[in-house]
Amino acid sequence: MLSLWSLWPLWHGPRARGRTSALTLAGAVLLTLLGTTTPATATAPATVIDPGPGTTIVGGGNTTVDKVPYTVSLRRGSTPFCGAAIVGVGWLLTAAHCVHGTPPDALTARAGSTYTTSGGTTRRITRIITHPGFGAAPLRDDVALLRLAEPLPLGPSIRRAPLAAVTPPAGTTVRVSGWGALSEGGPSPAHLQSVEVPTVARADCERAYGPLAPGALCAGLPQGGKDACQGDSGGPAATPAGVLVGIVSSGYGCARPGYPGVYSDVARYRAWVSGHTGITR
Ligand code: ARG
Repeated sequence: MLSLWSLWPLWHGPRARGRTSALTLAGAVLLTLLGTTTPATATAPATVIDPGPGTTIVGGGNTTVDKVPYTVSLRRGSTPFCGAAIVGVGWLLTAAHCVHGTPPDALTARAGSTYTTSGGTTRRITRIITHPGFGAAPLRDDVALLRLAEPLPLGPSIRRAPLAAVTPPAGTTVRVSGWGALSEGGPSPAHLQSVEVPTVARADCERAYGPLAPGALCAGLPQGGKDACQGDSGGPAATPAGVLVGIVSSGYGCARPGYPGVYSDVARYRAWVSGHTGITR
């Protein structure tokens, strides 16, 4: 699958949207299967840059939860499926597309563990508050709040992340953490991963994806190779100091050159978060 994907076109232009119909049927089916964001365009391959072997989040590496103690694993039944960020002792922020339409009692959160499968503190979810503007196609306002049944015991491995007050300027380093796939279409690790990527100017990101919703924020390297991937959704992108700036939302494939990861821009949702939780920073 990966080699087929690496042949997928990397050139894209501003006329993009209208050319989505040029996707081959096979390509469209694969995109659907992978649940990825449709790229702006699909034409003949240009330069293919191989991010190289060992691309693991993608392109990151093992970390421990004390380094990113606001990172939580969400489980439906016993299956980890998305991440979330601790924004208050009783509140998580995640992606709306992770939890929309799910009964809260089907979900649990595991905080304070490096592993999705064991350890830390688990909590039931009693309420899901999906952003009222959430829409799946095109994706917008991809944020939801989760109310925990009981507060989390704060400590070195469980901390809340303060919310960014302003959208970070392009080039700001963000640290993305989660248990998502180590490569596009690849397996998900039990061990927590993190990777650092710079935020990308909106105009550059729109050259790849076409017009983005106002609450979207992009991050990635021009050459690709480092990114969030399937299963990282809902998880945090924070500054190295631990201020929450983004929630993993979408992307075309994972870590492809020219296609940054798309995040929900936390600064734009601060007032909404405060309104529901009373958290003001
Ligand atoms: N939507 C994906 C999920 O549900 C995450 C996509 C992030 N992709 C990316 N290339 N940054 O896990």
